[in-house]
Amino acid sequence: MKISVPMVLNSRAQTLEVEPYWTLQRLLRDELDLTGTKEGCRTGNCGVCTILVDGRAVKSCLMLAAQAAGAEVTTIEGLARGDELHPVQTAFVEYGAIQCGYCSPGFIMAATAFLAENPRPSRDEIKDALEGNLCRCTGYIKIFEAVEAAAGALQRS
Ligand code: FES
Ligand code: FES
Repeated sequence: MKISVPMVLNSRAQTLEVEPYWTLQRLLRDELDLTGTKEGCRTGNCGVCTILVDGRAVKSCLMLAAQAAGAEVTTIEGLARGDELHPVQTAFVEYGAIQCGYCSPGFIMAATAFLAENPRPSRDEIKDALEGNLCRCTGYIKIFEAVEAAAGALQRS
């Protein structure tokens, strides 16, 4: 039997009907068509499903949708402000940190949460923060450069 779960999803308050066993990933992708949240391992190892829950990076394959009751949930679709990309998104584009792009939403969400907590990170801190995200195209150097550039842009904004 479905249960009602109120949440703010991508800045919009709503109440969603979910099965108790649905993960947040399942709700977002399969029920709401927010396919920017990717599906990979479904065991918490690849990071392609990373979203923000109350500003913290969460692997949505590991969290039940019902656990998001009362939370603010942000997916990659909700990161830009109108036509203006978030600085982390802009940096990924400008630094060529996107190859096939499958890992990109997860990296961008993880980096966004990380930079909110650590606005002036070292390269090693960036590496540590993103170790839960895998890129099968192995474009890690450009990803780290993009996150460094985003940190600079966020400080200037
Ligand atoms: S699909 Fe969630 S961590 Fe891999
Ligand atoms: S850009 Fe292809 S998996 Fe990372």
